[in-house]
Amino acid sequence: MQTLTTVAALTDILEGLRHNGRTIGLVPTMGALHQGHLSLIKRCVAENDCCVASVFVNPTQFNDPKDLETYPRTPEADALMLEEAGCDYLFMPSVEEVYPTPDTRQFSFGALETVMEGAYRPGHFNGVAQVVSRLFELVKPHKAYFGEKDFQQLAIIRAMVAQLGMNIDIVACPIIRETDGLAMSSRNKRLTPKQREKAPLIADILVKSRTFARENSVEATIRYVSERLRPEDGFKLDYMAIVDGRTLQAVEDWAETDYIVGCVAVYCGPVRLIDNIVYKHAD
Ligand code: PAJ
Repeated sequence: MQTLTTVAALTDILEGLRHNGRTIGLVPTMGALHQGHLSLIKRCVAENDCCVASVFVNPTQFNDPKDLETYPRTPEADALMLEEAGCDYLFMPSVEEVYPTPDTRQFSFGALETVMEGAYRPGHFNGVAQVVSRLFELVKPHKAYFGEKDFQQLAIIRAMVAQLGMNIDIVACPIIRETDGLAMSSRNKRLTPKQREKAPLIADILVKSRTFARENSVEATIRYVSERLRPEDGFKLDYMAIVDGRTLQAVEDWAETDYIVGCVAVYCGPVRLIDNIVYKHAD
């Protein structure tokens, strides 16, 4: 694996590869890699001639400066894990390299960005679109890989690619979990042992809510989850939403659409965690 830190080195190498007819896959990340990220890398390696991974903690998507400051950074371990997973190129640029001048672009994703993470983290998805569109322009991948853990992000990226008329295949990858069910996340590293012990309750309650949902209304299911993420266990709920998996708009009735997902954002101590579960899918 080759590590590249400049746009010039990256574009130079990729131009050569494209010229030789190689297919290029891209996995954008913010580092502090875990098996969730590596599942995307492995799929990218399997499906493309060349796998590019980016590790860049993108300042423009952090609405909370404290979150940016405390975001875990483990560049050496990341490089080792990527190499072992078969990644060909690691792009690890500085902020100046990605944003030589401040990025003032304003994206508009309509109803997709006014709900859930969009409502609780103002400017977050604009920052995600800025960095991912920049990476797409630099790497020009045939395919790019994103996790379903960040369910709304995936919908935003698809909308962005359509808006910009980019010919990139966006591949959705399933959520990878710890053995106790907790969705893997770089932020899990910031949990105290006590919080780490409680955190699997999030996934556990979501799974149980799927059984509950079979005989109860959407509203009652939202209540079921909300009431069980208790402050006594160190949780503070931002939202529990049950939405159409394509439009991300709240559904009121299980019969309304054929793809329904429950999305939750909850503080476990000071660490904000997200997770989701599919209640209904036509496939
Ligand atoms: P990051 O949180 O590092 O995640 C990088 C990719 O890994 C995302 O597509 C995310 O959905 C996926 N991922 C994270 N945890 C996962 C898990 N447990 N199972 C499956 N996939 C998982 O998401 C970002 O970075 C940034 O917003 C980024 C897209 C890189 C733009 O800065």
